[in-house]
Amino acid sequence: MKHAIYHYLTVLKLRKSFLDANYFNKRFYFNTEIAHLPIIKLQFSTNFSKAILFIENININKDIGSVRISFALNHFIVDRAYLSNDENYHIFEIYDSNIDQQLKFNGLCELKRQTSQVDDYTLIIDKSISIPLYGTLLVGQTGSGKTYALYSLILQMLIKNVQYNIYFADPKNSSLAILGERISAESTATNIEDIIKLLQNFNEMMEVRKAEIKDKLNTKLEATYANFRYEPFIFIFDEFASFQTVLQTMEKKKRDEVMKLLSQVFLQGRQLGFFLWIVMQKSDATLLPTNLRENMPVKFVLGNAEKQTYTTAFGTGVDVPEKNFALGQGVFTCPITANTPKICHFSYLDFDILEAVTPLRS
Ligand SMILES: Nc1ncnc2c1ncn2[C@@H]1O[C@H](COP(=O)(O)OP(=O)(O)OP(=O)(O)O)[C@@H](O)[C@H]1O
Ligand SMILES: [Mg+2]
Repeated sequence: MKHAIYHYLTVLKLRKSFLDANYFNKRFYFNTEIAHLPIIKLQFSTNFSKAILFIENININKDIGSVRISFALNHFIVDRAYLSNDENYHIFEIYDSNIDQQLKFNGLCELKRQTSQVDDYTLIIDKSISIPLYGTLLVGQTGSGKTYALYSLILQMLIKNVQYNIYFADPKNSSLAILGERISAESTATNIEDIIKLLQNFNEMMEVRKAEIKDKLNTKLEATYANFRYEPFIFIFDEFASFQTVLQTMEKKKRDEVMKLLSQVFLQGRQLGFFLWIVMQKSDATLLPTNLRENMPVKFVLGNAEKQTYTTAFGTGVDVPEKNFALGQGVFTCPITANTPKICHFSYLDFDILEAVTPLRS
């Protein structure tokens, strides 16, 4: 009953929005001018968490974007919007933003069970989102859950069927460094010189991989490291801004070298299986050079961020779903699956993380 009423009110509200936006064709009916509104169909999934909204394409010289569709949908949010193949309908895939998608794990066993549902090169974010490995930017104000988000991803990497080589850079020498020391002390660094050495080492490994993969690519041109079951290399860089601040005081030669090391990973790493994850509170150009940012395919903004933060991460004129974000919750974009910002919620780990990684060290 509740859903029937919601369905009725939503269609009514959409019809009003079309009227307000002058999105209709004028017709005459017994000498009276009438507004001919597009046909609206709303199909809910079985559990009412998702729906598909069909709006008739009435061939009007107006962008449907001028109609405030998201306003009419209340707590439902547009996930994808496109035109049907026969061009008769505008289709909107929508989801209920009030249904919490966060996963909670009581222990490693549960995490393992969940992880086995995706392939070895894909990580689970929440109940409805999992993404393949990509160069990633993770931003959000202090306390929004960035470092905590890394924990659930690192744990997943450690229990995959393929070995993950994880590098840890934590210039503030805080919790990520402690975790890194436990997992792989030789690939954990906290002071700037060591971090640069670690980056150099990462790049050297990438060169080795490049030589290895070259012969194999002769047999399969479009393949990537995953097709040949190579081990992924992930360089996790927490508190990138404080690294940059110290780096700026160093000589230009050094700065250029570091930028070259970083951009090489972004430009060549995807096919080779080398990925850089940069974590910081704000990603403005003074702290993260624009050319680096633009080469990061996946971007997360956690927590309630300022408008400027969304603009630097996703570009201007991009609609971000409005919501009061909980800890570990935010929006992200990712090639293919999320071209516009989509809500995500990182897992809650209800167990001792340090204890859990001890038997898993790489
Ligand atoms: N997904 C989550 N689920 C539940 N609680 C969370 C989640 N993410 C973060 N928290 C809680 O919020 C606290 C702060 O998170 P975290 O240290 O990751 O913030 P941060 O973004 O890294 O902040 P800073 O920029 O200061 O390092 C965590 O200690 C944890 O208790
Ligand atoms: Mg942190």
